[in-house]
Amino acid sequence: MEQTATAEEADTRSRVSLTFGREMSTAEVESMKRSLGARTALQVPPAVDAAYARARQIGFAKSSCPETGALMSVLAAAAPAGGRILELGTGVGVGIAWIVHGLRGRTDVEVVSVENDPRKSALASGARWPEGVNLVVGEAKEVLPSLGSYDLIFLDVPGGLKASLLDGAITALKPGGQLLIDDMKPYWSKRAPHRPPGERDPERLLGDPRVTCALLRYASGMILATRLPA
Ligand SMILES: C[S@@+](CC[C@H](N)C(=O)[O-])C[C@H]1O[C@@H](n2cnc3c(N)ncnc32)[C@H](O)[C@@H]1O
Repeated sequence: MEQTATAEEADTRSRVSLTFGREMSTAEVESMKRSLGARTALQVPPAVDAAYARARQIGFAKSSCPETGALMSVLAAAAPAGGRILELGTGVGVGIAWIVHGLRGRTDVEVVSVENDPRKSALASGARWPEGVNLVVGEAKEVLPSLGSYDLIFLDVPGGLKASLLDGAITALKPGGQLLIDDMKPYWSKRAPHRPPGERDPERLLGDPRVTCALLRYASGMILATRLPA
């Protein structure tokens, strides 16, 4: 079993997916895939590319990777009419850009994103967002209880802070609402230099009776949870 997993991992590494930050024709993409032996290619939408550029501008390296962002787009696209989406940890707006991409111009869905660093939040605010996108500057734990309930929550603050926000995030989910927690890889990787103590471990989510969860062991590693009906 272990050997199979290792072989698959090596195969994934050698047959990489490519990410493109500029518009390319299908022919160009296919030619590049062939020359590099890549199986898949993911086109980064222009607003996301602009957000990655903002991150580079200030040397911020914690933006969501394209695979995680694309999943956010997929989940955002499923938001019901009049739905609400919350991101905890705005960074410079890469996550918002993926969410907005998934919404494809819809303005009936409210998107709220919370960031405690005013500089990063200001950078993210400088981008052109559609109506319905609201950036909040504040400590996630302090503001979360007053932000209402959501169809989708992206929990993307650093490390142990995630676990401290778990209860509040689940409480803020509508029945059937979904919670995506990013950067879970270190918590289950054998090679991880540290494991947080159990009390603070976001894997606690797996045992919470209010949700059902799946571990997504790709890209940055995620846990996806759906809040069960009350
Ligand atoms: C991993 S980055 C977020 C990346 C972003 N979600 C994206 O998709 O690109 C985590 C962000 O959480 C912010 N943060 C750290 N502590 C916080 C807190 N207590 N409340 C709100 N945001 C916090 C950091 O400043 C950082 O910008």
